[in-house]
Amino acid sequence: MLNRMSAGLEADSTVVFTPHYSCRMNRRIAMARLKRSMKFQDRVEDEFSGNLNFLIAGELMISGSSLRYMEEIRYPGTGWVLVEFSTSVSWLETLIQLRRLISRGYMPLIAHPERYGWCRRKRSRLVTLSRMGCGAMISARSFRIKKYAQAARNLLRDGLSHAICSDAHSPRDHIIDRRLKEKITEFSRVPWEVLTKEIPEMILNDERLPELPLPKERN
Ligand SMILES: [Fe+2]
Repeated sequence: MLNRMSAGLEADSTVVFTPHYSCRMNRRIAMARLKRSMKFQDRVEDEFSGNLNFLIAGELMISGSSLRYMEEIRYPGTGWVLVEFSTSVSWLETLIQLRRLISRGYMPLIAHPERYGWCRRKRSRLVTLSRMGCGAMISARSFRIKKYAQAARNLLRDGLSHAICSDAHSPRDHIIDRRLKEKITEFSRVPWEVLTKEIPEMILNDERLPELPLPKERN
């Protein structure tokens, strides 16, 4: 995947590893995962030096009242935390959980909003969440899953996602490259550069993101 990315991305691009964590995960397993990420980062930093930069974060499954592993998954040096929920989560629970994260000083970045029923039923809920300070990031991987592909397209068409990530789990998945750019440019209201460069840069700079929907052109 990284070989393909380094061919398709501009030099000096940053790749953020976001392995899965869950608040319910055993501490030993979580720490082993973190260690493995660091080892992998070490290895690829040599291999891709001068071409790609790497950061370690995580994608945290939020459920119940635990806020374990928030620090481990945080985008380094920022308040941004990539969070996901079970696909059957209700709108009310999502809202309560996200409010709780914000009240603890975190900036939640919602992974693949297109997978949640509350979002598919009423896309404008993402506007509410963006006003609270949340970010929303579509997964390119959703385009391979029939149930989510249309929802992802609708969000991009309406400017209701801040960014797009690969969410690549295997070399068969999409990566951020020209092919994906051509695919999403057909229907995305927001330019590719905003979704893959300008907003991700704001996240890494620990900036608050603009309210959704995003305008067609940059202001
Ligand atoms: Fe996920």
